[in-house]
Amino acid sequence: MNQFVKLTFTPGLKEVVLQELKEYILISESEHTISIELPNNFQNILSLKSINSAYIATSDKKYNPRYLHKHKSILGNLIEKVIIKKEKEFKTFKIRCAGSQTQEIIEIEKYIQETYTIKKNDVADLEIYINKIGDDWEISVRLSPRPLSVRDYKISNIKGGLNPNIAYAINTFCNLKNSTSYLNIFSGSGTLLIEAGLVNPHVKLVGLDIDKKTNSLAIQNIKKAGLIKIIKIKTGDIFESPDVEKFDVITSNLPFGMQISKGEDLKKLYQQFIDYSEKVLYSKGRLVVYTTEYEILELILKNSKFEIVKKLNLKIPTNVNSYLYPRIFVCDLI
Ligand SMILES: C[S@@+](CC[C@H](N)C(=O)[O-])C[C@H]1O[C@@H](n2cnc3c(N)ncnc32)[C@H](O)[C@@H]1O
Repeated sequence: MNQFVKLTFTPGLKEVVLQELKEYILISESEHTISIELPNNFQNILSLKSINSAYIATSDKKYNPRYLHKHKSILGNLIEKVIIKKEKEFKTFKIRCAGSQTQEIIEIEKYIQETYTIKKNDVADLEIYINKIGDDWEISVRLSPRPLSVRDYKISNIKGGLNPNIAYAINTFCNLKNSTSYLNIFSGSGTLLIEAGLVNPHVKLVGLDIDKKTNSLAIQNIKKAGLIKIIKIKTGDIFESPDVEKFDVITSNLPFGMQISKGEDLKKLYQQFIDYSEKVLYSKGRLVVYTTEYEILELILKNSKFEIVKKLNLKIPTNVNSYLYPRIFVCDLI
């Protein structure tokens, strides 16, 4: 049976994902998925940081639900690879397949339930997909009980909090391995700082946010990540140009809509952010910004001391058929 690993990621982050996968053998790629050859130790896949979810998969023209029902070991083999020695983590399962309620699928569910003593549930640890892709039927089983983009350190979330895999991607443009100091302006729940600290715990990491309550949530996440000794959070309003030292790197997930105070003007806020960044960044320093309000930011950047060296256009699903289109700007202070 030809088995492979299928990885899903946020559209727009392919170059970051490919960089993280450089040790693996690629089979195919699309805007939001990459398939790689099954590595010897596929458990290493679980520590990838830029992807959303990882699946072990197989595909063939004949693997339709009727065929799988008669050859249950095809699916059983994938399931066993995922749950072996991890039975405590996988307590529930769900098959996602067009026409889920066919008799064949009901029989396959019964088989899984009995063979692996695992319960069927809508929100499941073991996610199984049976999909027709082109001429082939593809069967895939998610390798982890939750998407890999869900991190254990996130005990507190805020509205507008950044996905950790996007935070990881932003940090890949910061040359963290060779930086000594990193400021995250509008640090919120601390995602960018934590992902940076996990890459290089020797960088001086400072977060700045106006909201005391948000800052205490960030501290909870930072403690859970085991990084409380290396990340400092400052409470301050960017309009008051808080006093900080100079930094090699600044990152930011800019506030928008609901996250700014009533009556506050985004243009003014972004202008102040860029002016402040010019002041506290060392010359030739790196600024990486994530925003959905990219038109406002780009105009301000064009009249600043920053040069845009790269732009990434992302596409993030919010609800069914609805997307956010944020951009990442990678800039250097000239
Ligand atoms: C988009 S959120 C940042 C989310 C963060 N990246 C995360 O993953 O949790 C924007 C943050 O900007 C902060 N903020 C808004 N106006 C501010 C100001 N004038 N000065 C400093 N922080 C401000 C808000 O408190 C909020 O936490």
